[in-house]
Amino acid sequence: MAPMTPTELDRILAAHAGREGALLPILHDVQAAFGHVGEEAVRAIAAALNLSRAEVHGVVSFYHDFHETPAPRPVIKLCRAESCQARGGEALAATLAGETRVTIEPVYCLGLCSVGPNAMVGDGLHARLDAARLSALVESVA
Ligand code: FES
Repeated sequence: MAPMTPTELDRILAAHAGREGALLPILHDVQAAFGHVGEEAVRAIAAALNLSRAEVHGVVSFYHDFHETPAPRPVIKLCRAESCQARGGEALAATLAGETRVTIEPVYCLGLCSVGPNAMVGDGLHARLDAARLSALVESVA
């Protein structure tokens, strides 16, 4: 990830200036650009949107998509909702016990329930996972 620079952060804030409901789009852009939403960004976003830092921090900490520090490892979002669980998601998750090369984050439905168990890496959805396919996915991102 690129180091956070005021120029890039300013560009993101300017792109959303004056828009209704700009907080989440800004947070997504900051997360995508820097890999996290750090204190510097929280301070700048709060000032730009006339919010308190606590309000911005509350949103950052509420959503799993945002990280306050850079993610140390690639993130695999593994669906843990009912349909994927019914299709073997629990056993699939168990195959990752002890895996330290990636961060496994639970998500609750990726909208592809009929072809689960599913996972997401970045913007990419991975369906019909079994242990071998999940292992290959881990290898591809680790
Ligand atoms: S329950 Fe997993 S995608 Fe919907």
